[in-house]
Amino acid sequence: MVRRELKYRRWLVTLLMGCCTALAAMAQSQGWAPDARIPSESGADGLVLPQDGAATHLGVSSCASSVCHGRAEPSAVNRVWLTEFRIWQGQDAHATSYATLLTDQSRTIATKMGIGDPASAAVCLNCHADNVPVERRGKRFQLSDGVGCEACHGGAEGWISSHTDPKASYAENLEAGLFPSASPENRAELCLSCHLGTSQKFASHDIMAGGHPQLLFETATFSINQPMHYAVDADYRARKGEYGNMDLWLHGLLEAAATQLQLITDKRLNVTGSFPDVALYHCDSCHRLTDVSAGDPWPVDPLRPSGSIPLNDAALSLIALMATTLEVDGAQAFSGGLDRLIFAASMQRGELSQMSEALKPKFRVVQRELLQQAFSGNQLSALRRALLTFAASGKARYFSNAFQVFLAINTLNHALQDDMLLQEEMQTWFQSIMSESEFAPVLFATQAARLLLP
Ligand code: HEC
Ligand code: HEC
Ligand code: HEC
Ligand code: HEC
Repeated sequence: MVRRELKYRRWLVTLLMGCCTALAAMAQSQGWAPDARIPSESGADGLVLPQDGAATHLGVSSCASSVCHGRAEPSAVNRVWLTEFRIWQGQDAHATSYATLLTDQSRTIATKMGIGDPASAAVCLNCHADNVPVERRGKRFQLSDGVGCEACHGGAEGWISSHTDPKASYAENLEAGLFPSASPENRAELCLSCHLGTSQKFASHDIMAGGHPQLLFETATFSINQPMHYAVDADYRARKGEYGNMDLWLHGLLEAAATQLQLITDKRLNVTGSFPDVALYHCDSCHRLTDVSAGDPWPVDPLRPSGSIPLNDAALSLIALMATTLEVDGAQAFSGGLDRLIFAASMQRGELSQMSEALKPKFRVVQRELLQQAFSGNQLSALRRALLTFAASGKARYFSNAFQVFLAINTLNHALQDDMLLQEEMQTWFQSIMSESEFAPVLFATQAARLLLP
């Protein structure tokens, strides 16, 4: 019997308590028009992630001096705070991500995998540090800096000297190689490359079985939970454009769904040729207690006969729900295709590749539609009801589904500006997903039903 014991997640604890001021600053009106840029398929849009760029990475100490980003107090005259290094070093989990590889927990994972020292293993360093090839490391670069400035902002070789010029526009800095992390679409791809994985770096079940936490991510919430080292104020918007929380949320989900479709059929994650890595399935379908029934009242899902293993469809199923609720073109085709994919993932794995390929164009139609429309407050309310109905009927019975539904509702509450009204109910709901090992699907559904009441 396998039972996972996980510590309480920092993000969930801070989620409802710490984020409201930051969110208020980003709050949008009752309706919403997405950032209109239309992304192409994940990884196919020519976007080069910091780790893959040609520029040399100079190292965090190149940014950290007290006259640069290492000031003790925010600058009153500059556009940016210049305290970014202090915030990162003092509060940001990315600064200790390399140190994590020196812990007992990491050593246990590495021992089970037989990979020796985790702090020298590429499979760990690719996500826990700025692991660019040696020839792209500057003199002051240190792997032990973990996920440093340039892991997100791009190798600074080309822009280090020019970006300090107050006359340099954002466009010019991007031209010089700064990574365009202000765009929700690009940010989602950046964050998810480590927080969900790509075919080049993936937290496989081998890693999980050593005791690695399940990867869970939502771009809007995690953007808030990363200790803020920048302010999205009027000056920022003038320089970098308008985007809000809903944009980060939608682009994040779309990117996660696209990546998921990609990973399912990636040959590197399908060593047996017949079964993709089980880390792509719902962890808590296989990992649950067998001596007590969870007491689920729900009928067996026709797409997932009892005993079949359900694909982790957290992002994909929310996109389908969103598309059908908002009645965008192509919604039915996508939704039907997703059902076939989920069935194949459990029951006809030989056809999985084909199903996934068939779903990609349908996904792109829905993606384009979702990004092109402006949504009224009424539509957002309808979407919230649909999500709550989904949860209330037991369709979010696996943790990663419940996690995404909860954060989606939280984001919608803010967009609809009735979050204060719902605080108490949301807190109660939050209790049911605070810990993965104590996740109670029935409680989660019951509380969703309560929130559905007018
Ligand atoms: C190069 C890989 C990488 C990239 C890119 C990355 N992260 Fe992370 N992130 C990590 C790792 C590794 C950790 C875990 C650090 C640890 O505790 O060892 C982490 C931790 C976090 C945490 C803390 C989670 C917790 O449980 O407390 C937040 C929040 C976060 N990341 C947000 C983001 C956001 C937002 C982005 C995109 C702007 C992003 N990350 C991009 C690798 C990355
Ligand atoms: C695909 C990227 C990825 C890979 C590969 C990866 N990790 Fe992680 N790891 C993360 C992220 C992201 C987190 C933070 C999870 C969160 O809190 O949301 C994390 C968290 C952890 C934690 C828990 C840290 C804490 O503060 O609780 C440990 C330990 C860890 N990783 C060790 C390893 C080891 C050892 C390897 C190599 C065998 C490895 N990781 C490979 C992305 C990755
Ligand atoms: C995990 C990813 C991540 C890491 C690590 C990171 N940043 Fe950022 N940073 C962001 C994101 C996301 C934004 C907001 C989007 C944007 O403006 O590009 C941002 C914004 C900024 C800004 C822009 C503020 C503005 O008003 O335009 C500065 C300056 C900055 N970061 C400096 C740093 C420095 C210095 C470090 C290292 C000490 C660092 N960042 C580490 C993700 C990161
Ligand atoms: C298809 C079923 C299946 C899925 C899905 C699955 N696992 Fe496992 N897992 C197993 C089996 C079987 C074992 C024990 C055999 C082994 O060591 O591989 C195991 C072992 C483990 C262990 C080691 C337990 C111990 O007592 O040492 C952990 C931790 C774990 N899995 C975490 C996860 C996480 C996290 C996920 C989701 C990302 C996941 N598993 C998805 C079947 C699964």
